[in-house]
Amino acid sequence: MTNFKEYSGEKAKEILFSQSTERMNIGKGMLIGTKDAGKGKPNIMTATWGGVGIMWRRAVCFCAIRHSRYTYKNIEGSVGVGISLSFLAPTQENARVLAFCGGHSGADTDKFAECRIGCAYSESGIPYVADADSVILCRPIYSQDIKKEGFEHFRDNCECTNSQKSEADLFSQFYSDGDIHRMYICEIEKILQR
Ligand SMILES: Cc1cc2nc3c(=O)[nH]c(=O)nc-3n(C[C@H](O)[C@H](O)[C@H](O)COP(=O)(O)O)c2cc1C
Repeated sequence: MTNFKEYSGEKAKEILFSQSTERMNIGKGMLIGTKDAGKGKPNIMTATWGGVGIMWRRAVCFCAIRHSRYTYKNIEGSVGVGISLSFLAPTQENARVLAFCGGHSGADTDKFAECRIGCAYSESGIPYVADADSVILCRPIYSQDIKKEGFEHFRDNCECTNSQKSEADLFSQFYSDGDIHRMYICEIEKILQR
């Protein structure tokens, strides 16, 4: 269960950028691990929106979490505590885990128990999937809600037709119900790998 090799600093960066389209491919699905500050309960949520990169001379990952998620409440309820990104081996069983954790809320489910997967904790108490192939342990250092004006600034000044402008109206397409994403930029502290 704790049979991971740990990487940090330059080595973590090297691994991250050489493997981020293979073993740590956010677009194929990851599980964001957080803890409910009040109940102490661990939770995992499937996510595919985000990326890895460099900001402020640090290796970072980006993720976008809607305000309706239990995960959002957990992050906001325990500011200063890190989060984890668990990447599973590409098996059929793990595809079912990703589907389950992307369709059920930890607010009323124990996803670790329902999916029969183990929960491990980092030294600082961040929950992650014990049998993951790779895990990124990171700490949010910046967050901002997606704003309508952020799209308008570019759309209104682009040289395009009205129909192209309406196709490009991503705010209406994705946020007409008011369930906004908050973007988090998280500093990567450790990578755990088999
Ligand atoms: C493939 C897939 C990818 C998803 N990606 C995201 C994402 O990037 N951001 C997000 O807020 N929700 C995303 N979701 C939805 C959440 O995983 C889903 O609402 C989940 O039930 C939230 O769990 P929670 O309430 O325990 O946090 C995704 C769902 C699936 C199935």
